Amino acid sequence: MCGIIAYTGRDEAAPILLKGLKSLEYRGYDSAGIAVLNAEPHVSITKTPGRVEELERKVASENITGTSGIGHTRWATHGIVNEANAHPHTSCGSELVLVHNGIVENYLELRAELLDAGHKFTSETDSEIIVHLIESHMKDGASLEDATRRAAKRIRGAAAIVVATAGDPGRIVGLRLGNAGGIVVGIGKTGMVMASDLLAVLPHTRTVAYLDSGEMAIITPDTASFHDLDGGVIEKATIESDRSAEAAERGSFRHFMLKEIHEQAESTASAMRGRVDFENETVSLPDFPFSEEEIRRLDQVIIVGMGTSFHSAMMGAYMIEELVGIPARAENASEFRYRSPVLDENTLVVAVTQSGETADTLAAMEAARDGGAKQIAVCETEGSQATRMADGSLLIRAGQEIGVASTKTMTNTIVVLHLLALHLGRIRGSLGDETVADAVRELAALPGKVGDLLAAESTYEAIARRLATKRHLLYLGRGVMFPAALEGALKMKEIAYIHAEGYAAGEMKHGAIALISDLMPTIALAPAGPLREKMVSNVNEVKARGGEVIAVATEGDTMLPAVADEVIYLPPASVQMSAILSLVPMQLLAYYTALQLELDPDKPRNLAKTVTVE
Ligand code: AGP
Repeated sequence: MCGIIAYTGRDEAAPILLKGLKSLEYRGYDSAGIAVLNAEPHVSITKTPGRVEELERKVASENITGTSGIGHTRWATHGIVNEANAHPHTSCGSELVLVHNGIVENYLELRAELLDAGHKFTSETDSEIIVHLIESHMKDGASLEDATRRAAKRIRGAAAIVVATAGDPGRIVGLRLGNAGGIVVGIGKTGMVMASDLLAVLPHTRTVAYLDSGEMAIITPDTASFHDLDGGVIEKATIESDRSAEAAERGSFRHFMLKEIHEQAESTASAMRGRVDFENETVSLPDFPFSEEEIRRLDQVIIVGMGTSFHSAMMGAYMIEELVGIPARAENASEFRYRSPVLDENTLVVAVTQSGETADTLAAMEAARDGGAKQIAVCETEGSQATRMADGSLLIRAGQEIGVASTKTMTNTIVVLHLLALHLGRIRGSLGDETVADAVRELAALPGKVGDLLAAESTYEAIARRLATKRHLLYLGRGVMFPAALEGALKMKEIAYIHAEGYAAGEMKHGAIALISDLMPTIALAPAGPLREKMVSNVNEVKARGGEVIAVATEGDTMLPAVADEVIYLPPASVQMSAILSLVPMQLLAYYTALQLELDPDKPRNLAKTVTVE
């Protein structure tokens, strides 16, 4: 949720921290702040409600020097959005500075204890507790790292913490507890960096190490060391990242979201590389961690995820059930974690998470592991917690997504889940060579078809102008198009703030039909396929009640243009590919509606890209 950055080295810290915060801002943008330390010893703290841009202006008006510092961009949990609640937080004596991502679940109890001991609080946050706890242990003579460890043992809840002290300005301590978002440590030539996200580290170095839960990093300008919660040294292997820092640049696009929507023609091809053999028309997943024998023994597949990733999971479950012929279901990870699912070693749990850090999805993975299931992560972020917890990962290779609303990561996730279905089906014998070859031909055409849809952008823009005048929308779909309807509605809700319901079309007449009027247009996802005629009937039912209908149909459809008010055309494709293709117009409808309403689609209110709290 929040973004954390720390730097200690030979360069001025403030510009490095601000640049890092800009690339982390997608994680939270309620407020931002930095603390810069220098040898005097002196700590300069600058914070502001609102965006990093505002913080940058404030910093420019001050004369801040120092080659160490920490920074934070906040997604508020405890305490309103104001300057006092912005991080970094300080100890009573102001010599300690701390940034935090996560929730201190026992903060009321600890706050009362610290108040009794005479500590003075300046914010309403749970985070401030931690810096006072560390201060109290340092007063007892503990070093910064020992005091941080002792504080860590007192707090309940997942956390990522970075803390520094004016008394030793070149030494910064980072700690990860549970799954509140990671800390990546970058080993640079002119300094060391710690950040919530690789993207903020890459401008400095590609040599990185990831902290696991219960691990601490101590960085100085020339060293990075790793320790456990008892102070023992951990030998941590570093890796060389092959990621590019360019993902954090918008280029000529007005928004990251638009850039990422446009990247989908290329990114879908990237998801297939090395997995689809276009010459021999077959599919195999070299990165799938289980043997053919283990695949044949599987008796159920459960796909877990949250938000958009849950919708991807639903689509994946449809595809696996249909192509592999074994029970497959999608589960909302926040529900799954508290259920008593029946699992064993013949269950495959697939965790869908682009960030690999979503708290509920990680908890669902823990439940799957405890139940003895096999599990894989379908994930964008190599090295993330999900990829480290799973038995293996299928990386989606969409490239870093900055826009808070997921677009290309969903599309690539579904491509990968489709490949998974084909791989399992081929090995289990539910799919013959010819069926797989047909699917490969469809996949080969997918990037081009995505490109064709993107070329029709002005059509969606025109429809969006009409949708922007409405306050309610209904999205209908059947079968694999039902999750596409849910996703279309979610995109509209999250970036255009229009109330949008995604519905299984067959369910509509059991209640939601009462809402139909000229005030609530319906977007009906009805491409060619076995359920299209059923959808045409639903469209007629809406029209008969005075509702406006925008149909998503396959080129050449003659029935839907006759009944719907507007038609968005998809290129001819299988139902599975149509489900993927339908996402592009849904994304662009939401994007242009948000623009009509003068909203910033990259930073929708109240949202954060990575939800590391429950
Ligand atoms: C949707 O646009 C959001 N980005 C959100 O629903 C997201 O899909 C969800 O929070 C899960 O994130 P993950 O894929 O990183 O686990």
